[in-house]
Amino acid sequence: TAGMVTLDPGFGNTASCKSEITYIDGAAGILRYRGYSIQDLATGSSFLEVCYLLIKGRLPEAAELKEFADELRSNAELPAGMADMLNAFPRNAHPMTLLASSVNTLSAFYADSVDPQDPAQVDLATTRLLAKLPTIAAHIYRNSIGETPIAPDPSLDYVENFLNMTFGSAKPEGEVGELFAKAMDLLLILHADHEQNCSTATVRVVGSSQADLYGSVSAGINALFGPLHGGANQAVLEMLEQIREMGGDLDAFLAQVKDRESKTRLMGFGHRVYKNFDPRSREIKGLARQILDRQERPDELFELALQLEDKALADPYFTERKLYPNVDFFTGVIYRAMGFPTSMFTVLFAIGRLPGWIAHWREQLNDPATRISRPRQLYVGPGERAYPGRA
Ligand code: SDX
Repeated sequence: TAGMVTLDPGFGNTASCKSEITYIDGAAGILRYRGYSIQDLATGSSFLEVCYLLIKGRLPEAAELKEFADELRSNAELPAGMADMLNAFPRNAHPMTLLASSVNTLSAFYADSVDPQDPAQVDLATTRLLAKLPTIAAHIYRNSIGETPIAPDPSLDYVENFLNMTFGSAKPEGEVGELFAKAMDLLLILHADHEQNCSTATVRVVGSSQADLYGSVSAGINALFGPLHGGANQAVLEMLEQIREMGGDLDAFLAQVKDRESKTRLMGFGHRVYKNFDPRSREIKGLARQILDRQERPDELFELALQLEDKALADPYFTERKLYPNVDFFTGVIYRAMGFPTSMFTVLFAIGRLPGWIAHWREQLNDPATRISRPRQLYVGPGERAYPGRA
């Protein structure tokens, strides 16, 4: 009930309020995928195992995981004709714009897997999306830097294949290469799902009309692109670079944030659910230190981020508003150290979030209580008015 108006019980009803996939306790900083804690999955699992867990609802046996990985490996190629389409896109476009557009066209390239009412087609679309998103992302990146795209290599595992398609011969080898692949796998795990966040809710809203999986995920990618959501990982790096250009004056920057007129936000801080700490941010900060401490000299932006975090956490303006580092605060310095440009940061978030989007879309599809999303509103506009008619 809002004011004196009682909203229709169907207000905002999309059956998105019930799910068995991810549990978050914002006050206690708890995050579990299908009951398993993010800390246990971060230390013991792999991204492909987490994909299987989120989508199928249970951990795979070793043989099942191998079969799952092999199936993705053999479906990683782009559909015939898509490379020409990607090559025709404007080279200076943001990769997230091209990713959303390309994923939507998968419904055209694969008309044999667009019927949500046919479980075999839903499984086919699931496999194709998981297998091809990294290939599409890497192709878009290689075009953006004027390099020839690299085809998937079936001899490599999922993450190594993505890094190879992205960086080719420039990718680090040996111990550093292994560290980067492990770090990427962990970052993908940490981004894999987060219950009813903006982009996942978008996927569910679009899917509730029985739109196909490709189109629903394309809508989710567009929602994720916003700087208040997944686009924040790029915005954090741009914020740190802006502070560095200001001479590293953190007090001046925080004063600007606290001046409401400036409309400046401390990007990478704050969360609608976590009002204490984001457990993912702790894992990512540790990973950042592990990677950046190996560099010859300290990473200036990481040091700046650490100082900024300390100052904000000591400032009542932020603690009174329960603003703490979220998943996006430290990811950018790691991606940058790996060689990704800021424009690819949110694409990496999308690759990680894909299994979560798919799991929620499938869960909703299989829930008999699901109805089309049709939020009601509280009308506050003018009452009826007589039309003056033409003189
Ligand atoms: C993600 O939902 C999810 O789970 C998302 C996500 C996922 O995994 O899917 O976790 C990923 O999107 C993380 C969030 C990334 N976005 C950012 O880092 C952008 C910066 N943060 C914000 O804009 C903001 O904190 C949000 C969007 C994350 C949350 O917004 P809310 O819950 O709507 O908070 P609010 O805007 O109502 O702010 C409450 C108060 C306000 O002050 P008052 O009006 O009460 O005085 O806190 C202030 C805001 O002005 N505030 C900030 C701030 N965030 C909120 N002030 C300065 N800097 C900020 N970052």
